[in-house]
Amino acid sequence: MSIKERAKQQLRDTGESVAGALFERAKKLPFFRDRIAAEYDKMMVELRKAAKPYGEEFPGCVALPEHGRGRDEVLAQMRDLHEREVSRWEEGYVSGAVYHGDSDHVRFLEQAYAVHSQTNPLHSDLWPSITKYEAEIVAMTADMLGAKEAGPGAEVCGTVSSGGTESILMAMKTYRDRARAEQGNDKPNIVAPMTAHAAFDKAAQYFGIELRKIAVGDDFRADVGAMKKAVDRHTICLVGSAPTFPHGVIDPIPELAAVAFARKIGFHTDACLGGFVLPWARELGYPVTEFDFRVQGVTSISADTHKYGYAAKGTSVVLYRDKDLRSHQWFTLTNWPGGIYFSPTLAGSRPGGISAACWAAMQAMGRSGYLEATRRILETGRVIREGIEGIAGLKVLGDPLWVIGFAAVEPEAVDVYRVSDAMSERGWNLNGLHRPSCVHIAVTLRHTQEGVAERFLGDLRAAVARQRAREA
Ligand SMILES: Cc1ncc(COP(=O)(O)O)c(C=O)c1O
Repeated sequence: MSIKERAKQQLRDTGESVAGALFERAKKLPFFRDRIAAEYDKMMVELRKAAKPYGEEFPGCVALPEHGRGRDEVLAQMRDLHEREVSRWEEGYVSGAVYHGDSDHVRFLEQAYAVHSQTNPLHSDLWPSITKYEAEIVAMTADMLGAKEAGPGAEVCGTVSSGGTESILMAMKTYRDRARAEQGNDKPNIVAPMTAHAAFDKAAQYFGIELRKIAVGDDFRADVGAMKKAVDRHTICLVGSAPTFPHGVIDPIPELAAVAFARKIGFHTDACLGGFVLPWARELGYPVTEFDFRVQGVTSISADTHKYGYAAKGTSVVLYRDKDLRSHQWFTLTNWPGGIYFSPTLAGSRPGGISAACWAAMQAMGRSGYLEATRRILETGRVIREGIEGIAGLKVLGDPLWVIGFAAVEPEAVDVYRVSDAMSERGWNLNGLHRPSCVHIAVTLRHTQEGVAERFLGDLRAAVARQRAREA
């Protein structure tokens, strides 16, 4: 970004904060307050309708039934609801959300869960099978993410968590606690690009850490120079994404990790989206910025098994370069009347069946399964990206492979949110993003089914044409 452009960005940011402050004041004036309340009510009616569509047909259960209902009846009601919701994601109308979804794979995960449905890894003495599955999930993920090439002194290790957010929370808590224990750092801060996932904001809020969010470059990737400048003696770690949630681009991880390494602080790669795609993309010959433990300075990684690892929802892996770092994640209590208590992650009791199903997914996919799934997803990503690039009035943001963000572009720009609304009317469920205003689709195996990419592009062309006619 040039100095002029950076100044413009700063003005935009300042503009936003000035506008924000003015808005806060205006909200207090009776006229504005009433207008805002009326708009808010209108919006809430729409939101409620969308979030709770079953109100009249299935009146809410606000108390226990007097007598237990028959199991068949309960299951029939649940199947009825499931039937109404399944086709949208199964037929590939949804961005992200369900990443595999073939019915035979789904049945298999359900069977694996059922085998271990009563287990709880908090009681590892009762269910050592789950401890074994989780250790193997961590080992398989570490192996995929460069553990063997991590260099001298590395001993990559980790834990299974409930999802990307928990993996990120755990890593940030770990850095905070290490900095506190080893340097007495009681004013910790994290330096992250503003595109880093909201989970980092959550971690900062939960754990009393300052989050320094740094503007990204024109290519939507982290600005290494600006991030380096934001580091001070209280910085506990830097962050980069592989790829980012909003625009699907990979931050310059080697350069960012070098900054962290030189300052002897942590570097977290958020590979929640890409951890189970990028290793295979690299093997398939796609240009992939290095992002894993092969990069000196990368000290932790989050990778989501419940996204492109094709497990059921509820698992992710957080990895550390060495055991000493991981030890700051543990929670131990020795003086509690309830006995000696130890737990590795946020939850106490955990669903062992979910970890078992995750292990089963990884075993059933194998290297060749992940490679083939990635090949299909990246080919579909290319078709969708090129298709969007061919629509006048839209442009693809950055240089993405399979999470593709698009925005309006002059001279034929149209309101991209209205385009997204028109897509919703055609059944699509895309992600609306802002700063800048854009929309993205995260391509999954659902979109690799025959005809889905073409249907998406056809509907997008029609949605843009309709919006253009409206704006004319
Ligand atoms: C890059 C990235 N990081 C973190 C997360 C958070 O993951 P989860 O929703 O599983 O908590 C997501 C979710 O989409 C993500 O895309």
